[in-house]
Amino acid sequence: MTEYNKLLRLARTRIDACLSGVAGWPESAGRYLERGRGEWLARYGYLLAAQIDLAIPSLGLVGAKPFNGQVKRMEIFRAILDVSKISMIVETGTCRGATTEYMARNFNGPIYSCDLNQRYFEYAARRLAGWTNVEVQLADSRRLLQQLFELPLLRDRVVFLYLDAHWNKDLPLLGEISLILNSQISAVAMIDDFEVPFDQDYGYDTYGRGKKLCLQMLSCFRDQMKYAYFPALPAVKESGPRRGCLVFTTSAALDQHLQTLTNLRRATQRDWSV
Ligand SMILES: C[S@@+](CC[C@H](N)C(=O)[O-])C[C@H]1O[C@@H](n2cnc3c(N)ncnc32)[C@H](O)[C@@H]1O
Repeated sequence: MTEYNKLLRLARTRIDACLSGVAGWPESAGRYLERGRGEWLARYGYLLAAQIDLAIPSLGLVGAKPFNGQVKRMEIFRAILDVSKISMIVETGTCRGATTEYMARNFNGPIYSCDLNQRYFEYAARRLAGWTNVEVQLADSRRLLQQLFELPLLRDRVVFLYLDAHWNKDLPLLGEISLILNSQISAVAMIDDFEVPFDQDYGYDTYGRGKKLCLQMLSCFRDQMKYAYFPALPAVKESGPRRGCLVFTTSAALDQHLQTLTNLRRATQRDWSV
């Protein structure tokens, strides 16, 4: 790379960092107003931040790529769609809507997604406005799942759930899984950022003691989680940040289909006892 190109690159990085900081101001103002009595005004702060994010795609924002930019994970998702006759998708944690948009490109049925963060919600709602089958909500993931599971029409549908609302100290994952396992719905769920036993090259999230996304954390659901899977391919063959995942289903019939997928391997007793 020539000196000129190096300088150009450095200048671009500095400008992007500056613009990114500028977009942070209205969001901070929104937070400040929310704490006071300006809730109605706060929305405009988040809206402005989202509009700046949308206007400058070069900012390389977090959550820019679907399924973390992992090609093998996208293949797992499409394979599950193919074999499971999915008729609805629910994603928890929309962020910038990159995965939601990818799902919409590959699936014609209804897609629901939710996020608690208003800047992300405003961004994703605008980005996905052209997809008539996509509904983005500003909501806590547990509330969205609870509402959806109460719908009678869900009884005869197979739902794909992408559980990705982990980011904060308040980790909704156990609540989400409890709602899924105690509902009567037929579902295939994929949890992102989950530890893959015996393959430490797959990344996973941890939020302190007892809050590492791993099978041990789910031991209270062990008896109900009979049909659980991990990616069959080693992490070194995955692209992007190589985050791990866990896939499970609530139904024995769906499990028969998942067993046919070569890109998944069944979780064993050995995995549960790590
Ligand atoms: C890892 S990001 C989601 C990435 C997104 N699914 C994708 O693939 O591009 C996690 C998101 O979950 C959101 N979140 C955290 N806790 C939540 C909750 N309880 N309910 C809904 N969203 C939540 C965060 O605001 C953040 O945007």
